[in-house]
Amino acid sequence: MEIQKPEKQIEPYLVHQADKEEQILLQKLYSEEFCSNKREMIRVIEDILWEWNKKEQIRQKRMPLKEVNARIKAPRSIVEKLKRKGYELSIQNVGRLHDLIGVRAVCNYLDDIYRLREYILSYKGITIVREKDYIAFPKKSGYQSLHLILKIENEIVELQVRTAVMDYWSNLEHSIIYKKGNRADRQIGKELIKYASFLRKVDYVLLAQRIKQE
Ligand code: GTP
Ligand code: MG
Repeated sequence: MEIQKPEKQIEPYLVHQADKEEQILLQKLYSEEFCSNKREMIRVIEDILWEWNKKEQIRQKRMPLKEVNARIKAPRSIVEKLKRKGYELSIQNVGRLHDLIGVRAVCNYLDDIYRLREYILSYKGITIVREKDYIAFPKKSGYQSLHLILKIENEIVELQVRTAVMDYWSNLEHSIIYKKGNRADRQIGKELIKYASFLRKVDYVLLAQRIKQE
């Protein structure tokens, strides 16, 4: 007779314990104490970005900023990310994530992105602690954006700066593939890479056209 291996069972106590940890953490993440500073920080950054837009508008007689979007990472996504990274579910570990506050600045032209970077760099009270230039070095997916991890008044903020064209692609790709486990669909992936490189040219053409007219 074949001896069957007993199915691996998780101790009910451990399941219960894990649930409890998650519940306690979620409660903290939903609390006013956790959210209020972050909401305030979003307001501070939005003001800085629109103030830059105003200054540039006066200087260049055109608006570099198309839109600004911001969000505090949802409690469920925070828990998911901690699990994905293999961190224990504690509020201390939540502090290790750099995208709890996420701000996206959508610019009209390619050069606006780097002008905004310069502005942030010279802004008193803000330090860029990390920078990823996915425009100079696009991701394998085709994704392009400039990511700046900022430190302002002891809060960490992930600022993504991109053109409207990049934003269009990113939203499209996000809805089709990114974080949807749809990576296996190579054909769609390949198409999206093609569109990304086509759209990259569009950004360059738009910039060249504008410069010609200036
Ligand atoms: P996450 O764990 O996803 O936050 O990535 P990360 O911490 O390694 O940082 P990274 O700079 O690679 O990505 C941060 C954010 O950029 C993501 O949460 C997305 O908003 C965006 N992003 C990165 N790669 C892609 C991509 O291939 N497609 C799309 N649409 N967005 C991307
Ligand atoms: Mg993220």
